[in-house]
Amino acid sequence: MSVRHEAPDMFEPPSWDERYSGEEQIWSGNPNAQLVAEVSGLPPGTALDVGCGEGGDVIWLAARGWTVTGADFSANGLARAAHHAEQAGVTGRVSWWTVDARAFSADGRSFDLVTTHFLHPPDGGMVDVTRRLSEAVAPGGHLLVVGHAPSERFTHRSARHRRAMFRAEDLLPGLPEDFEPLVVEQRPRTVSRGGETFEIEDATLLARRRR
Ligand SMILES: C[S@@+](CC[C@H](N)C(=O)[O-])C[C@H]1O[C@@H](n2cnc3c(N)ncnc32)[C@H](O)[C@@H]1O
Repeated sequence: MSVRHEAPDMFEPPSWDERYSGEEQIWSGNPNAQLVAEVSGLPPGTALDVGCGEGGDVIWLAARGWTVTGADFSANGLARAAHHAEQAGVTGRVSWWTVDARAFSADGRSFDLVTTHFLHPPDGGMVDVTRRLSEAVAPGGHLLVVGHAPSERFTHRSARHRRAMFRAEDLLPGLPEDFEPLVVEQRPRTVSRGGETFEIEDATLLARRRR
């Protein structure tokens, strides 16, 4: 009898663990553009980065004085992030949390900033993730959600993947009433990949929880 090996589901932890198991660093290590744009002017406090991957944003925040929890559902991703934080000399300001954003519960914890970049749960799941993450924002704190807006660049992907992309306004139903949206827009960004340079849009939602 032949045994068929299915490729791991790209929306589940084994697929990401596999991606993070090689020698090569996947992401640049630089902070994401919309994080820098929106958070540079905020006073440092406590922050949670969900889907932190290799920790580029966590390290940038920690280096600016924030006390940061990096969260991801990939154990290998978190191990890499911890290694990079050590290399950057910010271990005293960071901690790690294994969470699946689709089942996220704040468990009584709250943060001055909750941020997530390019998490993309399948099938429109980011509205529910926005609702869940908003629970972890302290009164007066900020929620920053950034992802890929639908684009021709992604039309070759599966229907589940296409539905994982979102526009900032799609997320508004996930925002509780005590949040004030500050930024709800698609921001163009030039990226270079595989020797090609092209424009994409960052769907960007920034909201503040009222005190
Ligand atoms: C495209 S990477 C982005 C990493 C990082 N935020 C950045 O911008 O460099 C997506 C990350 O989200 C994590 N992730 C995907 N789905 C998740 C989920 N449901 N819960 C927690 N983490 C998730 C993956 O393991 C991966 O590290």
